[in-house]
Amino acid sequence: MHATSSVFWTLLVLLLLSTTEMKRAGRGKGLKGARHGLPRDRVRGIGRHGRSGTPKFMAHNCTESLQSRDVFLDCQERGLIAVPSSKSWAREPKHLLLGRNQIRVLRDGAFAGFEGLRSLDLQQNQISVVEEGAFQGLWRLKTLLLQHNKLSTLSEEALIPMPNLQYLRLYDNPWKCVCSLESLVQTLQVPSKRHLANHARCTEPLRLKGKRLRTVDPEFLCQESDPGTQDDQTDPLEPSGIRTKPDATTSCHAYLFPEPRLDCSHRGLTEVPSGIPSDIVHVDLSHNSIRQLRARDFYGARSLRTLNLKDNDLEQLEKASLSGLLHLRELDLSDNDLHFVQHGVLEDLYFLSLLKLGGNPWVCNYSIHYMVYWLRLHSGVRQFGLQCRSPVEHTGERVEKYVDSYYRGCPREKLQGREESEEETDPKLWESLQEAQGGSEEELEPSHLRGPQKYKIIRLS
Ligand SMILES: *[C@@H]1O[C@H](CO)[C@@H](O)[C@H](O)[C@H]1NC(C)=O
Ligand SMILES: *[C@@H]1O[C@H](CO)[C@@H](O)[C@H](O)[C@H]1NC(C)=O
Repeated sequence: MHATSSVFWTLLVLLLLSTTEMKRAGRGKGLKGARHGLPRDRVRGIGRHGRSGTPKFMAHNCTESLQSRDVFLDCQERGLIAVPSSKSWAREPKHLLLGRNQIRVLRDGAFAGFEGLRSLDLQQNQISVVEEGAFQGLWRLKTLLLQHNKLSTLSEEALIPMPNLQYLRLYDNPWKCVCSLESLVQTLQVPSKRHLANHARCTEPLRLKGKRLRTVDPEFLCQESDPGTQDDQTDPLEPSGIRTKPDATTSCHAYLFPEPRLDCSHRGLTEVPSGIPSDIVHVDLSHNSIRQLRARDFYGARSLRTLNLKDNDLEQLEKASLSGLLHLRELDLSDNDLHFVQHGVLEDLYFLSLLKLGGNPWVCNYSIHYMVYWLRLHSGVRQFGLQCRSPVEHTGERVEKYVDSYYRGCPREKLQGREESEEETDPKLWESLQEAQGGSEEELEPSHLRGPQKYKIIRLS
């Protein structure tokens, strides 16, 4: 009797322990790990970490955050050489950010305990080896970022545990397009998966250099190269000296979390790269040598909310260069060579709230008026740095002040004079000018009485 009850209690305790374990581990993690025969030390200790996270497991200083009810575990730039233990978090993450570390190898079962992951960012590491079972258990994963690594080969088997994968980024890896890559290439070319790994290109052998994995003929991979013809092959990346526009996906670093973002800063770019994906929310093009924004440069970048063009050589923003940016909130044009902004350039920026303009040689002549009218009509926009640099009589003056003083003397005469003498005055500019001045002629006269709120609206730094 006594023996039976102690057996009963032991069983009950065991049962309770395993229930706690299951809860903590998420859906059947322990079972899954065991089923896949993972090394013991990876499964061990699942139930041990406290809700607060035992310091023992927090060795890597990853930070947990909650965004749109998803748990993000951010371990970027932590000098990691391996995937941190799955016990280093208090809440099960859906997104694991491991970019910009020094991971070289992804071992079998590396992500055991991370079965809840929807996205995994491994970009900008040194990964050259992915063992076949590395992604075991990541059946919910939708996004896998492996760009900017050192992969020359990858077995298609490694992708099998991730049937729900929708986004796979493999570009900027030194892919060796030989027989061993055949299964991966074939997988990437299955019609339903053609959107995976769009930009990955062969680095070797020479005859396939620059070819995209998704377009290379798998049969070619296993062909012995013919040394006789190889010399005739020109490098397909530089076909005939025709310079093509840089491509945003390959010349910038792309991040998907917390929000889709392209970092193209400090890349020596002389023009805006093409192909900014439509879901990108933030683009950083600062510290480059871009001279001009051309029409349609941001065509298709429909989701853009911030655009940073600080510290370039911009002299001109072509008409329609910012068209389509209906959701843009922040635009940084500071530290460029802008003298004025062409009429019409800003018209699509309905939701702009912040405009940085400092460090430009703004010229206070009639061409700058458009900018001021636009700002008056868009009173929700905070702008910084709109100051005349020339001509000397206005140097250092706020541009609004210059525009006010332009009309203050004898507004009607000046306005009419301009109307007669400058045939090229854009009728739209004329309209917006009238509007900015209050819309009706009568209001123009006593300029000192004109709606003081118009001046208050424009907040200056
Ligand atoms: C963790 O962060 C603290 C404070 O930021 C720092 O002093 C410590 O060196 C970091 N540890 C590791 C392993 O990076
Ligand atoms: C204002 O100055 C700029 C730069 O010097 C010049 O390109 C532009 O034509 C001038 N505009 C007018 C109306 O004089």
